[in-house]
Amino acid sequence: MTKNNFYITTPIYYPSAKPHMGHAYSSIVADFFARFKRINEYNVFFLTGTDEHGQKIQRAASEAEKDTLQFCDEISSNFKNLSAVLNLSNDDFIRTTEKRHKIAVEQLWNILEKKNEIYLSKYSGWYSVSDEAFYSENEIEEKDNIKISKLSGSKVEWVEEESFFFKLSKWEKKLLEYYEKNPGFIRPESRRNEVISFVKGGLKDLSVSRKSITWGINVPSQKDHIIYVWLDALTNYLSALDYPNIDTDKYKNFWPASVHIIGKDILRFHAIYWPAFLLAANLPLPKTIYGHGWILSNDEKMSKSKGNILDPLEIIDKYGLDPLRFYLLKEVSFGNDGNISKRKLENCINSDLANNYGNLCQRVIAFNEKNFGLEIPKNIKFNNEDLNLLNRFKENYSKIESAINKQDINYYMNFLMETLFAANKYFNDQEPWNKKKDLNRLNTIIYVSLELIRKISILMYPIIPETSLKALNIFNIKEKDINFNSLLNNEFLKQGIKINKINILIKKIIND
Ligand code: MSP
Repeated sequence: MTKNNFYITTPIYYPSAKPHMGHAYSSIVADFFARFKRINEYNVFFLTGTDEHGQKIQRAASEAEKDTLQFCDEISSNFKNLSAVLNLSNDDFIRTTEKRHKIAVEQLWNILEKKNEIYLSKYSGWYSVSDEAFYSENEIEEKDNIKISKLSGSKVEWVEEESFFFKLSKWEKKLLEYYEKNPGFIRPESRRNEVISFVKGGLKDLSVSRKSITWGINVPSQKDHIIYVWLDALTNYLSALDYPNIDTDKYKNFWPASVHIIGKDILRFHAIYWPAFLLAANLPLPKTIYGHGWILSNDEKMSKSKGNILDPLEIIDKYGLDPLRFYLLKEVSFGNDGNISKRKLENCINSDLANNYGNLCQRVIAFNEKNFGLEIPKNIKFNNEDLNLLNRFKENYSKIESAINKQDINYYMNFLMETLFAANKYFNDQEPWNKKKDLNRLNTIIYVSLELIRKISILMYPIIPETSLKALNIFNIKEKDINFNSLLNNEFLKQGIKINKINILIKKIIND
């Protein structure tokens, strides 16, 4: 049944400006999990897209003096382009201006209305267009005569208008019970605690329609109201699976979602509003919501005013995609904030990628070419030292799987880096260049080194797919053949078969 299905999503991005590093981060992380699950034989559906309705977009388009849909078309295509540049393996790209999405949102609204979860009243309070969020009085402060949200620092404005409300307060107890019973629902732990204490502080009903804007999906029963953009946006996770048609394979296989990857700033929407809407509509809840930290630029939050916004495209242009993917997954401790600096990125490229990974591949293949004519050695006999190293994969196999199931990227990266280090050490310590008289031993050292390269490259695949495929081409292993399960086999490589040479895997950065 659902055991082998895995549905992962990124947030859908606001096409109000061009993509930045924070967006790239959410997407790369989701891609890492999607790719790992595929090589672990899951049936994966990976979704990303753009969130195109609401006041923020309406304003951005009018400031750009463009027709709103045309504006969305242009910027949404930048995000589509970024997905390709990031080498995302997404199965779909949803835009909330698509018809399939509108149908889903209207249906969800109708159900909520029919179930008496929505009522008409009046909203008066603070609203941040930039966050598309309502804030209560105690979440507001004044800075330089401007009212801002204490949480995000963005400007708020006073709104007073007729509005539909969702009975969020009614779900307070049910949500708390759900968090309690499902400790893996919100991750990491610190964010879970944050949400629980917020909900314990009491939930107020949520305004879910706006009368003063025009850009969005109309409330079906009262067309002068536009559905609140977060109710609209969150539904994308369902509309991409054919909802409201729940009889399709896509819906049946993939709902509820396995993981929604999001940034910590949009936790409240995903961990409180979204499950409350779903509970109210009597739909199953996603299994995990993972709120990652912020990417800082030279230790500061990125902002237009500071002029420190990191453009992923510029970095990729200069350093290449795989080094950026590797850096973000290794150097940012997943769940916490992390910093990008040019110095650390260059260091990572030179030491981890070029010296440790690239060099290992290069040295072993060059040695093989010279001594075995690019053939996998025959007549091998493992000793304890060989087995100790090769069996690391077997011993850690289920630990890696369960780490991934808990979104513990740090465990995965540590295992990989330690193993890479051990593989380099093995090749140095065994000194195959001094073993030319002991052919059996020489054959075995080279065989083990090649097996290690194969295994390490498989683990590299979800992180740096393009580079890993280049390395796996040594053994003629193609993308569709990569299988995590093959790490259990210490004699995967057939003795005597031909292997291929490789070009430099990772170029070192040389600064003058
Ligand atoms: N449109 C909403 C999401 C709707 S999901 C149903 C939105 N979009 S966004 O474009 O503003 O942000 C998308 C994601 O990028 C969020 O997860 C946010 O946390 C992430 N990031 C934006 N800036 C970031 C950093 N500086 N660092 C890491 N991620 C951050 O919110």
